[in-house]
Amino acid sequence: MGFYSNVIFPRFYDCVMDKPFWTKYRQQQLANVSGEILEIGVGTGLNLEHYPEHVHRITTVDPNPGMNRMLQKRIGKSGVEVDKRVISSEELPFDDDSFDTIVSTMTLCSIPDVQQAMGELYRVLRPGGRFYFLEHGLSDDPEVQKWQRRLTWLQSKFADGCRLEIDIGGLFLQQPFEAVDMDNFCIEQVAKTQGYLYRGTATK
Ligand SMILES: C[S@@+](CC[C@H](N)C(=O)[O-])C[C@H]1O[C@@H](n2cnc3c(N)ncnc32)[C@H](O)[C@@H]1O
Repeated sequence: MGFYSNVIFPRFYDCVMDKPFWTKYRQQQLANVSGEILEIGVGTGLNLEHYPEHVHRITTVDPNPGMNRMLQKRIGKSGVEVDKRVISSEELPFDDDSFDTIVSTMTLCSIPDVQQAMGELYRVLRPGGRFYFLEHGLSDDPEVQKWQRRLTWLQSKFADGCRLEIDIGGLFLQQPFEAVDMDNFCIEQVAKTQGYLYRGTATK
């Protein structure tokens, strides 16, 4: 992993994403999580302070050591114990049906083999368990889609592998979830190519 990914990008990302307008989305998404929780692509730990009080422990997965170093600082300040794994979501060292809850925020765009990761996440989620997601992805506006496809190489270069044109809804529909509840909306605080969000839960 290069210097940019390991040192510069985690700091840059943390500055850009540690903004009040994201707080309400993070809080809403985490309000009902419970049980054994796996958060993937935890990054610098911006979700940590938004877990409800009844959550005392989570397991996290993120392959970037620089992100994990910044996460470590946030763990100290939060009341949440974290079993931190510096690994990728495409191959998870957990038994089938290990988790009650999976959390992913702004992460599926950055996973190189996201379909394989989705299969793994489905495998480790217990029947009846829920996958909470808040992701940016492919817009429903064909004009914006055109720009997302044009600019994704640039985004990927500067945002450490993040792609703009991932059909997040499609990823969930490809797995045999019992139910997928999802809403899509555009936020105004960022460019339309980055601001089309998919928010919801998928139940196994
Ligand atoms: C855009 S950041 C999102 C961070 C955090 N979830 C948030 O909401 O602020 C994407 C994260 O996904 C991580 N990531 C990249 N490839 C991954 C993979 N194969 N499995 C799990 N996480 C991965 C990156 O290291 C990065 O921390």
